[in-house]
Amino acid sequence: MPKSPTGPVQVLGICGSLRKESYNHALLRAAMELAPADMVITEFQGLGDIPPYNQDVQATGDPDSVVRFKDAIRAADALLIATPEYNYGISGVLKNAIDWASRPPSETPLNGKPTALMGASTGASGTMRGQLALRQSFVFTNTPVLLKPEVYVSFAATRFDAELRLTDDKSRGFIRQLLEALVTWTRRLTAPS
Ligand code: FNR
Repeated sequence: MPKSPTGPVQVLGICGSLRKESYNHALLRAAMELAPADMVITEFQGLGDIPPYNQDVQATGDPDSVVRFKDAIRAADALLIATPEYNYGISGVLKNAIDWASRPPSETPLNGKPTALMGASTGASGTMRGQLALRQSFVFTNTPVLLKPEVYVSFAATRFDAELRLTDDKSRGFIRQLLEALVTWTRRLTAPS
């Protein structure tokens, strides 16, 4: 069971897209701006440095990029993942990073880590199917995922301005609600019994 945070809830933000002008990256930036006073969101840098998962490599020890990723997850009170939807699933880089972080199952820092999801896509579903796929992977890793509110930013090109600031008030409201729910839920999940 992760330790209960006494100060602000420390959240590790993870973006599943490596694209420079990624809407999901912009969504994470919006979340940082909308975070409640008792939450600090720090974005993980370096998902793109993680090599393709190979069990033979893992058997000789985690590469440095994976050690950094696992340490960042371990140090955080909660995770906030901004995921794109690729072919009704999640991006390869995000799935790959989760696969590395999940091994070995007896030591994974994903075990019990409170996690919230959000996502932006250029299509109508706003990453609905991608987020479901992510929830499915987190069943195996025993990672509790916040149920509501769900944040699906559809038709992303219409919700951000030219500087990739999230201008859609409804989406901003949903993110605010998600972050408030994440603070309350993380404190509840990690409270000493
Ligand atoms: C997509 N896109 C997409 N969109 C969607 O709503 N459902 C989908 O299944 C897919 N599949 C898909 C596959 C691949 C390989 C790419 C590159 C794109 C479009 C996707 O929503 C769009 O490119 C987003 O802009 C990706 O997120 P970022 O990079 O802006 O964060």
